[in-house]
Order: sequence, then structure tokens, then C-alpha cells
Amino acid sequence: MTGRRKTWQKKAWAGRFRGKTDPKVEAFTSSLAVDRRLYRQDIAGSIAHCRTLQRAGVLARREAEKLIAGLHRIEREISEGRFRFAPEHEDIHMAIEARLIELVGDVGGKLHTGRSRNDQVALDLRLYLREEVAGLLAGLRRFQESLVALARREISVVMPGYTHLQRAQPVLLAHHLLAYVEMAERDKGRLRDALRRINVMPLGSGALAGTNYPLDREYTARLLGFPAVSQNSLDAVSDRDFVAETLAALALVMAHASRFAEELVLWSSQEFGFVELPDAFCTGSSMMPQKKNPDVPELIRAKTGRVYGHLLALLTVLKGLPLSYNRDLQEDKAPVFDALETVTGCLGLLASLVGGLSVRRRAMARAATAGFLLATELADYLVLKGVPFRRAHAVVGRIVRDRMDRGKDLADVSLDDLRSFSRAFEKDALDVLSVEGALERKASIGGTARKRVEARLKVLQKELRAEG
Ligand code: ARG
Repeated sequence: MTGRRKTWQKKAWAGRFRGKTDPKVEAFTSSLAVDRRLYRQDIAGSIAHCRTLQRAGVLARREAEKLIAGLHRIEREISEGRFRFAPEHEDIHMAIEARLIELVGDVGGKLHTGRSRNDQVALDLRLYLREEVAGLLAGLRRFQESLVALARREISVVMPGYTHLQRAQPVLLAHHLLAYVEMAERDKGRLRDALRRINVMPLGSGALAGTNYPLDREYTARLLGFPAVSQNSLDAVSDRDFVAETLAALALVMAHASRFAEELVLWSSQEFGFVELPDAFCTGSSMMPQKKNPDVPELIRAKTGRVYGHLLALLTVLKGLPLSYNRDLQEDKAPVFDALETVTGCLGLLASLVGGLSVRRRAMARAATAGFLLATELADYLVLKGVPFRRAHAVVGRIVRDRMDRGKDLADVSLDDLRSFSRAFEKDALDVLSVEGALERKASIGGTARKRVEARLKVLQKELRAEG
């Protein structure tokens, strides 16, 4: 091996080593299989770095052009599947740099001037998450749009509202669906908030201490569209808060997705019979010919655990790490990549599933009329007649008890029946025992009165359109 060849050996850092890396260690430490998906971000970061080196007078213009042309070529090679990923490449950064040197010769060795993989990988991950978060926001919006469309289509459908999974009070199906739109709205807020801290440019931090070269970091930030530059090099190379925040936001997205999924599983059961899922989203049984199983919502429910796990895995990696960069941080990527893929997939499926849902309006309405859902209306009636709420509650409780003992519901109670429990019941008492009236009275902000729900629907629709 000539002295010159030795300068560009296979491993960029092999200079101080005498022995070769054990292949088992190579395999163990390599992150290439996971981080190769960062190639576009890595190349974009390298191009911005070239420009910054040129501006600092470290690279001549012709050198910078040559490097950038080489980087563009590598990008094409990778995207077209022509790039040869070799096992000795520890990660995507090394793989691209080695190929660049192969392509453009000695000048390729100038790319890494004033840069470390530590600030490089932090940059790549920020660039990657920035795009992914934008995609998630769009995914959440589409899920919301599907719910809003269903709520509009089924605006008059009444269903039982539940607490403790016991029938409680009637609500509009649209109101129930819009609850998930509100959750997704908060999810978007959390992601947008995380985005503010993802959007900080770390390049120029070097390995940990900063750089000897007069790099105009604000220029790099402008080139890459970052509104801010990191202010402490030690922090910049070891900070993964932005990953943890994104995962935490994703964990809540999945908490909401799984609650909705669980309701779809329940509602599509014969016990509820509230909805029918589209055939395209169900599977059958290998043995029982009659089965139509809600696999998609079931899997969404289950994949929630996976995303929670990724959040905990990352938090555990971060816990107790001394400053600054530690190789532990390489374990940030697999969890966040899988979480992003999982959540993106689930949101897409949910939006389609909602679009194909058939609502069994009559079954829902029937369920809303049986089971004493109007008992609270009766208590509120007594309050109107001057009975303190606690007393009214007790009176109606006794009425319910009596009706149950006689195997009857509240719907067919007579005025005499009511008056035998309290003289405060007058002839307008029975009027409050209608589902429509009960809904209409819930007219304060956030209530299930149709007017309120329609108004909220309009606002949400307008906001979603403005985002789109
Ligand atoms: N593959 C590494 C990671 O993902 C890149 C940084 C490695 N730096 C180092 N000094 N070993 O974190």
C-alpha cells in the first residue's frame, strides 16, 4: 500500500489503529442499515457545509463545485439503487464520504473539514424529523377531515353517550366524532411545538467544542431553512430532546388512535351493532365461515404499545449520559423511524376506514332511548321547579329503581307515577322525556346540542381548509 493510498484507507479513522476491527464489532456498531434512509438529508447538509467552507475561504469555488457535483451524483446513485453499501461503512455519513473521495479524488477529503459526524448526524436527524413532522401534520389533518365529513353526513344521528361504558346521556354521533377531531387538534399543536425545537441548526459544533474555522453558521442555517442556530456545541451534539418530544407527541397520537380503534371494535360487534366496517378493512376466519374481524382497528390498538415502547427506549438511552456525544445516541434512530412509520401508517388507515364506515342509525337511536338516559333530564326538571338538585337526584333515583323493579323503562312513565314520588312534577314533566329535547338543552359551549355541534363543525372545517 503506498503512503498515499494509506491516507484514504477504507476506514476514515484508521490512522491511530494498528489492529483491524473484528467483523463482529463491525456488524455490532454499524448503523448503516438504519441510517441509510438519511442519505438525502446527509447530502443536503454536506452541500450546505461545502458552501459554508467556501464562504469561509477554506474551499476554493472550484473545489466546492466539484464536491457538490459529486454529492449530487451520489444522491442519484442511492435513489436509483445503484449505490454499493459496503459492510466496512459504519454509517451513512462514512459511506457517502468514501464514495465521494472515490469519485472526485483528493478534494473529497476536504468535505469533512470543520465537521464531525456528531454535529452531522444531529443535523441529518433534525432535517429528517422536520419533513416527517410535516407529513404527520398532514396525516392528522386527513384523519380529521374524514371525521368531519362523517359527522356532517350523519349530523342527525343520536347515540348513547357513555361513562364507565354504561349508557349515560344521549349525544349526537357527530359530537362523539368531533371529540376525536379535538384530540387530533391538540396532537398537531404538540407536533408544531416540537417542530420549533427540531428546527435548530447544529452544524458548526464540531465533535463537541466548536470549530477552528470561521464558519458562518447563520449562513448554513439560511441555506438549510433553519430559523435558529444552536448556541452551545456540547449541548448541540448530545441533545436529543427534540426526538423525545416528537416521540411523546406520537405516543399521544397513538393513545387517541387506539381509543378510536377500540370504539370501532366495540361498535362493530354484534353486541353494539352501531357500525359496519368496510369489507376491505376486515378479514375472515380460517375456520368460522361467518366471521368478519376488525383486524385493522385491533392492530392500531396494539401498535400503540410499540410506539410507547419507542418513547421509553429513547428516554432510557438519554438517561445518565455524560456530556457530550456518546455512541449510545446512535440508538435514537431505530425507535423514532419505526414510530414515525407506524403512526403515519395508522393515520392513513384510520382516515380511509372512517371514509368507508356505515352507520347503523336505527341501532344507535334505539340504544339511546333505552336505559334511563333521560333520568338526568327529569332531575333537572325538578330543579326548575325549585327542588334542590341533591333532592331531585334522590327522587329520580327512586323512580329509576321502581321502574327497574317493574321491568319498565322511563319512556312510558305516566304523570301519576311521577307524582307519587314528588308533588313537584306537573303536567309539563313528561315533555322533558324526549331525546331531542335533552340534546337541544345542552346548548352551552362544548355541549351536544345540534346547533352547537354544527357551529363547531363549521369552525373546524374552515380551519382544516385553511391548513390544506
Ligand atoms: N452513526 C453515528 C450515530 O448515529 C454517527 C456519529 C458517530 N460518531 C462517532 N464519533 N462515533 O450517532
